[in-house]
Amino acid sequence: MIPESQVEDIINSNDLVDVVNEYTRLVRRGSGYMGLCPFHREKTPSFSVHEGKQIFKCFGCGKGGNVVHFIMLAEGLDYRSALEFLANRAGIEIETTGRRAGSTTKLRQDIMSVNKEAARFFFRNLIENKTAQKYCVDRGIDVKTIKKFGVGFAPDAWSALREHLIAQGVSEELLLKAGLVLQNNTRNSTYYRFRNRLMFPIFDVLGNVIAFGGRVLDDSMPKYLNSPETALYTKGNHLYALNFARKSESKRVFIVEGYMDCIALHQRGITYAVASLGTALTDNQAKLLKKYFDEVIISYDADTAGQNATIRGMEILQKHGFRVKVLELPKGDDPDDFIRKYGRDKFFKLADDAKTFVEYQVSLIEGRWSPKQLDTRIEFVKEVVELLAKIENRVERDMYIKWVSLEYDLSVETLGMQVENRMRGGKVDLDNFFVIKRAAVRADTKAKVSDENLTKRDRNEKMLILLMSEEVQVLRRVRKEISSDLFTEKNRKLYENLLKRDDRGESTGSESVLMDADIEDAAVISEILSEWLTPPDIYKACKEIIIKLRNAKFEERLAEIYEILKDKNLDDEERTKLTNEIKKILEEKRADI
Ligand code: UTP
Ligand code: MN
Repeated sequence: MIPESQVEDIINSNDLVDVVNEYTRLVRRGSGYMGLCPFHREKTPSFSVHEGKQIFKCFGCGKGGNVVHFIMLAEGLDYRSALEFLANRAGIEIETTGRRAGSTTKLRQDIMSVNKEAARFFFRNLIENKTAQKYCVDRGIDVKTIKKFGVGFAPDAWSALREHLIAQGVSEELLLKAGLVLQNNTRNSTYYRFRNRLMFPIFDVLGNVIAFGGRVLDDSMPKYLNSPETALYTKGNHLYALNFARKSESKRVFIVEGYMDCIALHQRGITYAVASLGTALTDNQAKLLKKYFDEVIISYDADTAGQNATIRGMEILQKHGFRVKVLELPKGDDPDDFIRKYGRDKFFKLADDAKTFVEYQVSLIEGRWSPKQLDTRIEFVKEVVELLAKIENRVERDMYIKWVSLEYDLSVETLGMQVENRMRGGKVDLDNFFVIKRAAVRADTKAKVSDENLTKRDRNEKMLILLMSEEVQVLRRVRKEISSDLFTEKNRKLYENLLKRDDRGESTGSESVLMDADIEDAAVISEILSEWLTPPDIYKACKEIIIKLRNAKFEERLAEIYEILKDKNLDDEERTKLTNEIKKILEEKRADI
């Protein structure tokens, strides 16, 4: 955690106009500045900066916020890294709260600098080692790529590195904690983890060396050795080459398995490629990717392990809202092999033919059960029906039903019926079916209404918070009259933070609300602020919004109750309780108006 006072310091030391000017040219317009938005393509400026309020807002793409939000967007960083970036820019050294936090940060920094020294050492060694160099040449890695990726060579003896590091005051303990050396318990000494290996530094998004992978130069085992998890490096939280890929301006990214695959693509100008380094893709990695990309093309090996990793990876990526496709390589080739044999154009051709998740799974089913043979055809259909029944979106499901029937010469009607049937659990219960259907129609219209209301409500909640931040007297009066569950989750946090600031006697102005806001919230808040006119009676304005919010809450609870009441198996006691609650809510609503 970075202490709040320092966050303020960092924000105040980075003038928004100056910072923005490093990304897009601002021109003074009236009391503010205008420029071309750095976050979307445009010909006429709709990006506006308010110098006094230190906020920006783009009226084209809707992005907005303070200087931290700007850097998060412009550099693709998370909140913490954006603050570090700005601290760095202003020459502020970040102090962290609490002893423990402080010491782990120190350790992380120490490991980072040892890693950097080690990477330099490995790099110099590669330049001096003919065998390792020949290996690179044989594998088609050129000098530019070696430099870009900081590829190096770990010799058998490290004494030069050790002497160098020890001269700099690096302890044996730190080398252990960085995972560069290992403890030899029987002899009470340490030995080097990486020997006689081609070294690949693993970078974080900012380009710091956080770990290493080392490959043998021959066929011995294990082929790759990797750094262990350290205070700096957690497997599954990083993606190899994302530090380069994030700068590519592509919205689409290739995910490959290995170092060499990734490097081979980058060397051929496909800089929007990252590697998951032989492990299954994690939620954290998906989140990380989502900051920069919308579409993923997975290109793993065509073996069974690769297929399983592909399916798991696709599931995770879809969950995080990516469009996902699979690029299928000929059996036995990985992306590195393929692109070296056939070149970049052929690789792009495969990317054009990449399959969607459903297409890919159908092709795997086809591999298991040939649809052209009578005895396996029925198994094929069974598994395909199983798969199609899982597609939630009706339009998409229908589309795939049509596609499969055309592709495999099946009757659309029969297939459609089987899928429908499967979706109802294989049983057709007509009695239940009609009840559920009617209930579903009602719930559907309700859901649509509440979706539209959601943005309105979010805005209202933020308006209320901003109104309260306008005058501390009003804040103190209103906070006694409402409870924080008037707000939905994220705004509740903002509201509670505001109260905490007041309790601590800190400033409670709109700039502090903005400080607590994430990118999405910041966009809405700065939009409200950009149109902000302080109402003559702030308290009264608050009251009006509070009534609206209460009503929204009532509506939501009502919808919830209606939903529960649909359950045929509900016992009478519960039913009466809920009906009474409806009556009470309706009365309260009337009273409020
Ligand atoms: P591969 O075995 O597919 O290796 O493992 P590769 O990348 O094609 O390597 P080359 O072409 O033989 O040099 C894919 C990835 O899995 C991890 C590495 O990150 C590797 O790049 N791996 C593989 C290990 O960590 N350890 C191993 O022993 C093997
Ligand atoms: Mn390979």
